[in-house]
Amino acid sequence: MSKKQTKKLKRHTPLVVGNWKMNPESIGEAKKLFLEIRKSISRKTLQTYVAIAPPAVFLSELERLSPSQRVKLAAQDVFHEKTGPYTGEMSLSMFKSVGVSSVIVGHSERRALGDTDEDIQKSVEAVLKANLTAIVCVGEKIRDAQGHYFTVVETQVLSAIKGLSKSKVSQLIIAYEPIWAISKGDGKGKTATPEDAHEMKLFIQKILADFFGRKTVDKIRILYGGSVNSQNAEELFAVGQVDGFLVGGASLKPKEFISIINTVETYANT
Ligand code: PGA
Repeated sequence: MSKKQTKKLKRHTPLVVGNWKMNPESIGEAKKLFLEIRKSISRKTLQTYVAIAPPAVFLSELERLSPSQRVKLAAQDVFHEKTGPYTGEMSLSMFKSVGVSSVIVGHSERRALGDTDEDIQKSVEAVLKANLTAIVCVGEKIRDAQGHYFTVVETQVLSAIKGLSKSKVSQLIIAYEPIWAISKGDGKGKTATPEDAHEMKLFIQKILADFFGRKTVDKIRILYGGSVNSQNAEELFAVGQVDGFLVGGASLKPKEFISIINTVETYANT
């Protein structure tokens, strides 16, 4: 084998994001959960980025608990306008002012509540314009034998990146989250096989390459989400070759979440 062929593929610093969704029930519980996670990762030098997306109402309190940003803060959703008569919505500058560095956009649970591809595209554009990272969720409802799910994912990706300039893509992350794999909240649903996750990563990279050019694609992380837990993280990361995870249910159990981070950390360094 030539030297060129044996050269190890450069991987991104992996990213593990905990999406707490509408949990826990109080600020007291949120602080306790956050501190348990923060304490355990503060003890080591990590080669993995860790972020938590708590309910927005907890963000400013949690920011104070992680002044060094060892645990980064993410928002679960955003509205693209800057200010104005939009009852119930939150803007990027509000999130920035409480230490948020990335924003989940187009989560399937938001799409189910009515967010359209157009809303998602506007949010992605606004997030990147504000110099924050956009974690764009895509994924099919079902896997059909004819492979129509590839078209579903392609449409979602193309629509989310419409009009984006190449200069911003290093702040773009795509999270492949097949809806059928998202757990009911315990992190123990059906999960994609590592091979499926890998195939979808390559497919998404191809879409991005056709749009932005080959070189640019290496700057974009592709995460996997959907029932990731301490049991399946190793295979999904090592075989699936994804750049990290978006974790729902298991991120509410500190031991589980930390075990996922440790797995990623182990494989990122091999
Ligand atoms: P889950 O959720 O890990 O509980 O399946 C993932 C997500 O919805 O982001």
